[in-house]
Amino acid sequence: MSNLDRDDIPSNNSNNESFDALLGKQQARRGFLKASAGVSTMAFFGASLSTKAATAQTTTSKAAPALPSMGFKAVEASLGDKIVVPEGYRYAVINRWGDPLFTDSPKWKGDASDDAAAQAKQIGDNHDGMHYFPINGSSTEGVIARNQEYINPDFFFPANVRVAGDNWNGDWVKKSQRAQGVSVVHIRYDGQNWKTVLDSKYNRSINAHDTEMVVVGPAAGHELMKTNADPSGTKVFGTFGNCGNGYTLWDTYLTCEENVTDYFGSLQEGVESNTLMARYGVTTKESDESYRWETHDKRFDVANEPNEWHRHGWIVEIDPFDPESKPRKLTALGHFKHENAAMTLAADKRVVVYMGDDQRSEYIYKFVSDGKFDASNKEANRKLLENGTLYVAQFLDGSQQGDLQGKGKWIALTLDTVGKNGKKLGELFKDQGELLVKTRLAADAVGATPMDRPEWITVHPQTGEVYVTLTNNSDRGTDKERKGTGGVKHPGIDDANPRAKNPYGQIVRWNENSADAAAPEFEWNVFVLAGNPEVHKEPGNLMAGTSNVNANNLFNSPDGLAYDKDGRLWIQTDGNYSDAGNFAGNGNNQMLVAIPETGAGKGEIRRFLVGPSGCEITGITWTPDYKNVFVNVQHPGEYGKHPNAPKVTPQEDALAFSKWPMGDNEDKEGSGGRPRAATVVIWREDGGIVGA
Ligand code: FEO
Ligand code: CA
Ligand code: CA
Ligand code: CA
Repeated sequence: MSNLDRDDIPSNNSNNESFDALLGKQQARRGFLKASAGVSTMAFFGASLSTKAATAQTTTSKAAPALPSMGFKAVEASLGDKIVVPEGYRYAVINRWGDPLFTDSPKWKGDASDDAAAQAKQIGDNHDGMHYFPINGSSTEGVIARNQEYINPDFFFPANVRVAGDNWNGDWVKKSQRAQGVSVVHIRYDGQNWKTVLDSKYNRSINAHDTEMVVVGPAAGHELMKTNADPSGTKVFGTFGNCGNGYTLWDTYLTCEENVTDYFGSLQEGVESNTLMARYGVTTKESDESYRWETHDKRFDVANEPNEWHRHGWIVEIDPFDPESKPRKLTALGHFKHENAAMTLAADKRVVVYMGDDQRSEYIYKFVSDGKFDASNKEANRKLLENGTLYVAQFLDGSQQGDLQGKGKWIALTLDTVGKNGKKLGELFKDQGELLVKTRLAADAVGATPMDRPEWITVHPQTGEVYVTLTNNSDRGTDKERKGTGGVKHPGIDDANPRAKNPYGQIVRWNENSADAAAPEFEWNVFVLAGNPEVHKEPGNLMAGTSNVNANNLFNSPDGLAYDKDGRLWIQTDGNYSDAGNFAGNGNNQMLVAIPETGAGKGEIRRFLVGPSGCEITGITWTPDYKNVFVNVQHPGEYGKHPNAPKVTPQEDALAFSKWPMGDNEDKEGSGGRPRAATVVIWREDGGIVGA
């Protein structure tokens, strides 16, 4: 989410810290920037890709990769209401919010007066994670599965409709529910343009209102998953808050339910919040002002259905090629504010999925399946995400304070694991189903490391090195918030999260021991600490960032993150776009490309794209030939309380801040009276591999 910063709310009072996050540490870190990005210590990280790959080869038979090229000229930061791509690149806008999904879809109305019935047949809002599934391996025809994360009521409803007031009714709730979830869209390149194949059997709106799903894994059928409407605890309607994504080795899509707690509240007085609700941020008052679903849909009223919210906040598996299939909520992968899901294989072919919980001071997880992947057995593979072990990460500081590196451990969240108070988790949770519904409590109990809002995770395609974006953190917490830490001003800081207030974010990476994704321990360092060396010039100021940050690639709040097949790391931002103060030189949200191995081990980072006003850039996927990259423009025009905000409200003039994609030179037909989230496909004029 965005400048509204819904995620930036602390609900973790577990008092978990890295062991040596002690008073005075930040002082001790001054001076680390001389070394920066771990140059002095990082033979094991990116700097020696070929050595590393050779190591990997001995254990996992992966080929030693060549260093990828990065041939484009960086684009400059800017504040325009348009997409900017490098010289020699072109782009087109497809699949805007409200565009048709079917041959009989009603034409989108520019004033947002389309009703719920219309929205059911139109593309949803606020595009996020996505994946291109080729049809017969094609790079010109495929099915895109794409998250439609949330709605912004300023633009999503007509000017005279207020969520908490005038003209609000059940049909607006239903429209909101139908605009969120996952769109499955068959697209084809006709030699000139990418177009939706409107009569395709694959097109589907999987949304929060209409789509029946099945719960699988250890929490399926659990008492905590049962509702009045579903005494079986296995049948759920809908998915929403769909943030990042993953995809499996057997061609299914993984959509990740993130800020699901925003959708629940209560109209009743005096409803008590329980410990679990408090830990996840579920309110017993009105839900988020963007939604208010409980006003017309009682299952979102926690007084009526106290367990309904347990049924959201999972990863959901979707078969994009079977429009009749029921999406499956995968409880073995844990219950939290899921950002994305990065799948890889362990040395013994068990499936490993890395995941972040995106909220202030939450944790990083990995799931390791019980069963092994078998490329020839698609049906058996579908069971792999039903049973396995969920682990949570503990990042331990290095031997030297402030070196921004260290070792780490994966702690199993199972009933036999002994927590930090010496008791087995089995004394806290009566079975694995309960533990999984209460994943955050289990992770607290074993002393997981709170992180600066874990967003996307990606795995290097050849070496298996894992990267995570930690987007930002307005405050690592005071002693009062984090209880009993005896006068430590910012008890949460540690080498992986080294700034007490972190407006810029960082990317942390790790290598599993023995290059085996299922290993119980790892070594990590900070690949880039975003910052602003132009503003923070004092020597050793952590706010300047690491030395691979410079005037030509300034960015903040890294969020989307993905490796391409050659080892280029694509970084997308969802942060401050004021271009002023701490953010001078940043400009609009953007996408950058890094090759961690280049630049004497420092990791070169180059700006590839700048988005339009008020948007974030998120979601990334390629055609199999890597000649087209698809990315999403989410919430163009959203300004909230931003310093660049127009003087008028969106109700007075919805186009005051952004008209995108209307007027952008690649969208000549115009889009009407609202800025609209959309997918952008980018290619090289000479037909080469994007980014190369
Ligand atoms: Fe939906 Fe964490 O971003
Ligand atoms: Ca974000
Ligand atoms: Ca956002
Ligand atoms: Ca995100």
